[in-house]
Amino acid sequence: MRIHTYEKLWLVAALVLIVGFIATITYGSVGLGISMIDDSEETLSPDEINDDERFGEPRVEQVGENEYEAYVVAQTFIFQPDPIEVPANSRVTFYVTSRDVIHGFAVVGTNTNTMVIPGEVSTLTVEFDEPDEYGIVCNEYCGDFHHTMEGQLTVVP
Ligand code: CUA
Repeated sequence: MRIHTYEKLWLVAALVLIVGFIATITYGSVGLGISMIDDSEETLSPDEINDDERFGEPRVEQVGENEYEAYVVAQTFIFQPDPIEVPANSRVTFYVTSRDVIHGFAVVGTNTNTMVIPGEVSTLTVEFDEPDEYGIVCNEYCGDFHHTMEGQLTVVP
């Protein structure tokens, strides 16, 4: 059977699309600034938080000229530190862990959002250009006062 040239073209185009879709699904979640649970590679047991070098004292630390690391602990029904203060024109890597149950860590109005799982450290890096104030909320149901669990992120000039 002879296949018309255009038909062949469409067949090839359809194939490219299918391969493209599969590639998107397979690799799409990598490197787009969206933190998936799989990004949490570090582990840290909740009993070890108090003795941990980073999380024993939740804080923001400068690690480079415009680079900061924020060690954040979530627990019912607060975030520590609160507020989290970072300077403008900075790149901040958040390390977030939970002392008890599953929480969320979402910076309102941005796509900074991750699940916080006890025993694991969620990591995400965000750039802050302008001074601003953001709310932080927990978006995983964590108990009676889940709806009151919020913090503040201040980007200081
Ligand atoms: Cu913590 Cu909801």
